[in-house]
Amino acid sequence: MVPRVLVAFATKMGSNAQVAEAIAAVLRDAGLEVTTLPAREARDLAPYDAVVLGSALYAAHWQREANRFVNRGREALRTKPVWLWSSGPLDRHLAARDLPPADNVLAIMADIPFRAHHTFGGLLDPTVPGVDEQILRTHQVGDFRDWERIRDYAREIARELTGNAPG
Ligand SMILES: Cc1cc2nc3c(=O)[nH]c(=O)nc-3n(C[C@H](O)[C@H](O)[C@H](O)COP(=O)(O)O)c2cc1C
Repeated sequence: MVPRVLVAFATKMGSNAQVAEAIAAVLRDAGLEVTTLPAREARDLAPYDAVVLGSALYAAHWQREANRFVNRGREALRTKPVWLWSSGPLDRHLAARDLPPADNVLAIMADIPFRAHHTFGGLLDPTVPGVDEQILRTHQVGDFRDWERIRDYAREIARELTGNAPG
């Protein structure tokens, strides 16, 4: 049977929905059956053989809906392979490193077994509603997501779930 994978994400400004889609595309190319869902909409984890969960970081915290996803699904998540990502730093140098998880993410990680966690660079698009003068004064505008690193992370997940190296 083809493994079924849930890619759940928490986003405020949309960037992590695109990260989730990029991960899902790699997993689908590897022959996996993939569902992407906002974390708040993902309720029943029973249909899935594996879960990939990621969240935007704000003030060094995952989005609340990602925490809630873990709280709701804790028992099920303990029985499945789980991968995590955070995104992410608005800085070319920081984005190029795999930063350690934020404390809030560490607390979640302590609670469920997981295969890997990666921190990817983030996106700050000044045209997104809600991005005001104050945010622009204190954060760097730009797209710091490294799609090749994101796809590498997804390829590793695919490899572990299928036992094959996707092309
Ligand atoms: C107000 C504000 C606070 C942020 N705080 C952090 C942070 O603590 N750590 C971090 O790595 N990135 C931080 N970021 C960057 C976001 O995580 C980045 O823009 C991310 O790509 C947003 O994801 P989203 O579009 O899915 O919401 C912050 C961005 C804003 C606007």
